[in-house]
This record gives sequence, structure tokens and C-alpha cells, in this order.
Amino acid sequence: MNISAQLSRRSLLMGVAGASALASCGGGGGGGVSSPVSSGSTASSSSTASASGPTLPDPATAPALKTHFNGKFLVGMTAEPSEINSAISQPVLKAHVNSMTAENCMKPHAIGTSAGVYNYTLADQVIAFASANNIAVRGHTLLWHQSAPDWFFVGDSTSATYRATVQARLERYITDVVTYFKGKVYAWDVVNEPTSDSAGSPYRNSRWYQVLGADYIEIALRAARAADPTVKLFINDYSTENADKLARLMSLVDTLLTRGVPLDGIGHQLHITTTWPPVANVRAAFQTVETRGLINHVTELDVSLYGSDPGSCFGTPATGCAPSLTEGTAAYWDSIRAQALQYRAMFDLFASQPSVKSVTTWGVADNHTWLSSFPVNRLNHPLLFDTTGKPKSAFWAVVNPTFVP
Ligand code: XIL
Repeated sequence: MNISAQLSRRSLLMGVAGASALASCGGGGGGGVSSPVSSGSTASSSSTASASGPTLPDPATAPALKTHFNGKFLVGMTAEPSEINSAISQPVLKAHVNSMTAENCMKPHAIGTSAGVYNYTLADQVIAFASANNIAVRGHTLLWHQSAPDWFFVGDSTSATYRATVQARLERYITDVVTYFKGKVYAWDVVNEPTSDSAGSPYRNSRWYQVLGADYIEIALRAARAADPTVKLFINDYSTENADKLARLMSLVDTLLTRGVPLDGIGHQLHITTTWPPVANVRAAFQTVETRGLINHVTELDVSLYGSDPGSCFGTPATGCAPSLTEGTAAYWDSIRAQALQYRAMFDLFASQPSVKSVTTWGVADNHTWLSSFPVNRLNHPLLFDTTGKPKSAFWAVVNPTFVP
């Protein structure tokens, strides 16, 4: 897929994901098929297409990711509250991560019931699990165009006080939520996906932008800093590996920095595929961020098995998407192999960049991934652990440079 198709893929992706973003947390999982991963031998493989995967090392010999990357970056995974008690994901979380992100239940739709009224029930479950297991928590997210409850915007938009009213609601929400999680969260995605996908203005034309203009980002960051002087503050966005999108994001960031707005880092979502992006693009994004004195977090890493989806697959309706792979076929294993190499290339890059302080996959294991239903319902196994929670080829490719996927 070329760059513009990829960019359109992601922009449309976010447009469609909105409806489901409103769902409450705690639900659901993906496909549930089991994976025929063998065990009990040392690393070996075939590199030709075949209807079986490589022989994988004994899962009992898998090093903990958090230990493997100790001194480089925190290793994180996102999880729903249901996953912290699941027999598949709980052991993976306990063994491998020292950072966690709530997949949905710290978003405004989940927490912000109405003005001044909050529901922390599910978020508290994630915090409690993390705390009991010495896992730090990344807060995601205080402001996102896909999770902007109507109560923020209630009122007569033509009245002279409307803008101030909406600003006050935003400030109160961020103040209260950041205060609530003070000391429990080490970083916040204060603003998620503020950058436009089109040439021209760097700002996404979101409801927040329409009411408060570009100032909404500064308002959010200043409120977060006032509520917690030490938590790391992030702007998080997708397609930062695309040079044009990155330039728009940095233009927005430069405006903030010039104005003295508190900001510690940039979150790179990295919802990528077996064929996109090249490592050089991601390196360029990290280095561009570094030049501003900011740190990098990889916040939502997953590697879709469908590297050949056209941009139209992410349109409404979705057309031209690659047909679902069938587990166990040669095509499936080819994609799993390509995925392993992509994961290896990315983690090698992350480990080589001191400015990368945290790397999170968007999910724990392949039994639960948002890509099972987006952009269409089909099998997708984009994570490091299979549907039963065992390390995949991608895992071994990341931790063992001599493993041949
Ligand atoms: C996704 C969740 O994974 C889904 O469960 C939900 O239905 C929609 O949101 N970018 C983000 C994440 O910043 O918050 C999104 O998470 C995935 C894309």
C-alpha cells in the first residue's frame, strides 16, 4: 500500500471506529480459534510457504519481555478489565509487562457520566490489578474526538457564553480525572488524534476544534499539568510514520512549545501491517520528536496480517478488503512469517532509540483484538501472543535474533 492509501486507511479507520469507541469497557473478544503452535524444541523453521508454521521454542523458555527490554523501555499491553481475569491474558500480563493501558475504560465516554459525575468502577479494576502486580499505568485518554460525550457540548452554541461554558467543562473534567489518578498513572494521552489527515491546517476539524479552536489542546494540557505536576503529558496520534502527517503534527506541537505549553512526549500509535511502514519512516518520526526535546512512546502497536488492503477497505462502506485468511493455510503462515519480521524490525528500532521510553501493544493476545471487527469482520492475529496466550513467531523474532520465522 502506498503512503496516501495508508494515510487514508488510517483516517477512515478512525472515522469508522467511532461508533464502537462509545461502547463501554469490559467487553468482548475476538475470534477464539486456537493456534496450532507446537512446542518443545529449539528455534528452527522453514522459510518457504507451507501449510504449517515454524516450530517454536518451548513457551516455558520464553523470556519476560519486561526483562528483555529492561533499561531500554517499559513494555506495555492494553487490556479490558475482563482480560485481567482471563486465563489467556492474565498470565501474559503478569509475566511480561511493566506498563498497562486501559483499552476503553479510561476514555471520556466511560468515565464522564455527566458534568461533574464520574464512573471509575472499571478503571479502578485495571489500576488495582496493575498495582498488585507492580505494573505502571498509561492513561488513555482525556480527550478524543471519538469519545466526546454530548454533555460537554450541551447549550446554545450561538450564545456569548457558550465557548466559556464548554471550556470550563473540559477543564473540570481533566482536572478531576487527572487528580483522581494522580500517583496511579505515569503518563496521560492528554489529547488523542488532534492532527488533520489532509494537507492544509494541521488541526483535525473535530467538535472540540469547532468550539474552542486550536486552543483546546493548550487548555487540556495546562489543566492536566495543573492537576498533576509530575505525570508525563502526551499528544498521541496515528500515521506519524507518514512524513506529511508527521509534519502537520509537529507544526501543531511547535505552536504549543512556543507558547510554553507543558508537553513531555509524543505517542505513536503504530497500528501497522506486515508491509507498512518501512523502519526508516518510524525512525524519522522518533528523531523528529527528539529534536524538540520530547520523548517517544509507542502506544498502540499491532501488526495486521493484511498488508495488501487497499485504501478503499477503510472507506464507508469498506470495499476491496483482502478476504479473511484461514488459519493453518499457506497464505496464513506466510503472513505470520512476514509479521514476525516486521515486529523484529520495529523492536530492533525501538531498542536502538534512547528516546523511546515505553512500548505498548494494543492488546494482549490474538483472542482479543479490535482488528477482528475492523475494518471488517475477519480473522486477524496482530499481536505477539496467539489465541491461547502462547508466544508466537513474532515474539520469538523479537527476543531472539537467530530465530528464523
Ligand atoms: C479502540 C478500541 O480498541 C476498541 O475496543 C473501541 O471499540 C474503539 O477504540 N486508536 C486509539 C484507541 O487511540 O483508543 C482505539 O481503541 C484504536 C485506535
